Amino acid sequence: MKKHGVAILGFGVVGGGVAELLTKNSEEIKAYLGCEVEIRKILDLRDFPNSPFSSLVTHSFDEVLADESVDTVMEMMGGSHPAYEYTVAALKAGKNVITSNKEVVAGFGDEFVALAEKMGVSYRFEAAVGGGIPVINPLLGCVRQNKIREVRGILNGTTNYILTKMFTYGDSFENALTDAQAKGYAEANPAADVLGTDACRKITILTALATDKLYDVKTVHTEGITGIRKADVLFADSRNCKIKLLGRCIAAGGREFIMVAPFLLPSDSPLSTVNGVYNAVEVVAEPLGNVMFYGQGAGAGATASAVVGDLLPIIAYGNANPIKPGFNRVGTPASDSFGDFESRKYIAFPTEYAEKVQKIFAGDEITISEECVILTGYESEKATDTKIASIGVEPLSKIRFL
Ligand code: HSE
Repeated sequence: MKKHGVAILGFGVVGGGVAELLTKNSEEIKAYLGCEVEIRKILDLRDFPNSPFSSLVTHSFDEVLADESVDTVMEMMGGSHPAYEYTVAALKAGKNVITSNKEVVAGFGDEFVALAEKMGVSYRFEAAVGGGIPVINPLLGCVRQNKIREVRGILNGTTNYILTKMFTYGDSFENALTDAQAKGYAEANPAADVLGTDACRKITILTALATDKLYDVKTVHTEGITGIRKADVLFADSRNCKIKLLGRCIAAGGREFIMVAPFLLPSDSPLSTVNGVYNAVEVVAEPLGNVMFYGQGAGAGATASAVVGDLLPIIAYGNANPIKPGFNRVGTPASDSFGDFESRKYIAFPTEYAEKVQKIFAGDEITISEECVILTGYESEKATDTKIASIGVEPLSKIRFL
């Protein structure tokens, strides 16, 4: 029987999940593909003396590279370096690369796709967005015949888990985060989750798939969840809304509005019902209409499913799939268009600014009780920020409606 050798780079939550899945389901995979998948090497800095895979563990990437029986390298180390260097070296050595690492895909996806093409091998990254949700390959294949108007989603399991625990069950931020870390959802440095950086990498990737344009992640407007207050949640409840951290790419008039920020979602929005570690990506397209991809956005089993899901087509068709991601690097900062992005907003100021607020936001709905709360009409970021600047103090909150 045909054999396909793989190496696992990074034996953490996801790498461990992949080894377990390949082992547990080896008979099914063999029967399905007529090919035996063998784990030949596992690269990690640590030793795993008690693991059933301990004999495969190496600390030397050169050993992985030199092993001709390794057909596919599965990179699940996270971070840009040395993941970038290892990916380039593996592709140059004629090995396929599969990754769950959104940081390298968002940062260097254009380079990897071009190099894979040149070397006649595959570069696949289904697990980089939405954990176990099949979304990358459907976006590349099933949806692209449409005009894509918007891709929006809950793209970070940790923050969605924290928001759900805090605001549905009254847990504290710290407890909810510790819990998410214990379950293997959070990044090595959870600041990347709670500050929106991880979701920013993911919306940058989705933007590239929807528009063929790869923006510099550092230029995407990004807010996290650390500023969300209990008062904001009470306001959301009073309006029959939920607050969710969304990544959005809206394509309009030949340009894109790309952002990560908390949004107020009305209860009839399908994204408002996505709780816990679940992620969802909603695509608005013509003539398709709205479709939503939903599933577990983080964790060993779900993410391993997406990684191994990328291996099957490599074994079945190699590099024959002509549909490749159009990662064309864009020099213009994504933030250039953000000032023109229009939305309705909820803004809160301390009550001592009520008089000024009433003058400057005249025409908007204003409620004064414990705080001075404004509901704006649709207006651009620039217009709202000019008014806020005239108040002379940062608002307690500013959250956009979807
Ligand atoms: N830290 C990420 C999350 C892992 O919570 O969504 C999956 O990318």
